[in-house]
Amino acid sequence: MLIELIGINKKYDKEVLKVDKLVLKEGLVYGIIGPSGAGKSTLLRIINLLTPPSSGTYYFMGRSLPANGKERLQLQRNMALVFQNTLLFRDSVWNNVAYGLKARGYGRIEIEQRVDALLEQVGLKDLAARRADTLSGGEAQRIAIARAVAFEPKLLLLDEPTANLDPGNIELIEKMIKTLNSTKSITVVMVTHNVFQARRIAHEVIFIHEGNIVEAGPAEQIFTDPKDPRTRDFVEGRMIY
Ligand SMILES: Nc1ncnc2c1ncn2[C@@H]1O[C@H](COP(=O)(O)OP(=O)(O)OP(=O)(O)O)[C@@H](O)[C@H]1O
Ligand SMILES: [Mg+2]
Repeated sequence: MLIELIGINKKYDKEVLKVDKLVLKEGLVYGIIGPSGAGKSTLLRIINLLTPPSSGTYYFMGRSLPANGKERLQLQRNMALVFQNTLLFRDSVWNNVAYGLKARGYGRIEIEQRVDALLEQVGLKDLAARRADTLSGGEAQRIAIARAVAFEPKLLLLDEPTANLDPGNIELIEKMIKTLNSTKSITVVMVTHNVFQARRIAHEVIFIHEGNIVEAGPAEQIFTDPKDPRTRDFVEGRMIY
C-alpha cells in the first residue's frame, strides 16, 4: 500500500476531521466526495503533509512518518498537489513544465523530451513559448497538471481541479488523469464536488461527511449500492451541499 492513516484527526476550534483508518493502494484513482466543509481539502492537505494532523499515525510506503523535517520533505517530493486555481510562474509555458525537473537536477535532454511529450499530451505544444499568465483558465489548469506530473510523482493529489472549467477542458483533464494513471501508474487522489466526475474517473470513492469517512469502496458500489443512508442521499443528489 502507498499510504495508511491510522487514528488521524484534525482539530482547529473544533474537530474537523476524524479518520479511524484509511488505506490508499498504489496504482488506483481515488475520488473524495462530500458536502462543502466536510473536510475533503483538510484530508488532502494531511496526505500531502502540508497540514500536520492533531494526532494519529501516517505511513508512507510502510514507513511511519517521523517528526524530522528533512525526511518529511523527502516524502513530499514523491507527491504533487494541484488546486482549483493553481498559480503558474510568470515565465513561459515550457519553463513552467520544466521547473520541477530542473529543480530535481534532471539532464537537459531528459527535460526536453519530457516537457515536449507533456505539452503534446495536453494539446498545448503550440503555446510552449507563450507567457503562462496569458493562458485561459482551462489551458492554465492543463499546464498546472503537466507541471505537477513532469517528474512522475508516485501520488498526484487534485483538489477540485476542474471546478471552474468548461465541459471541453473538463473532458481533456479527465482523460489526462486517466492516461497518467494507466500509463505511468501514478496513484491519484481527486477531491470533487461532482459525483458524476467521481463516477467517471475513480476506481475507489471515499465519501466524507462532517469530518468522518462515512463510506469508502469501489466506485460502482458507492454509486449503485451505498450502504449508508447519508451516502445514498449524497450520491442521489438529495443532500444539500
Ligand atoms: N486553517 C483553518 N482554521 C480553522 N478552520 C479550518 C481551517 N481549515 C479548514 N477549517 C475548517 O475545517 C472544516 C473543513 O474544511 P475543508 O476545507 O477541509 O472542507 P472541504 O470539504 O474541502 O469543503 P469545500 O468543498 O467547501 O472545499 C471547515 O469547517 C473549515 O472551516
Ligand atoms: Mg475544499
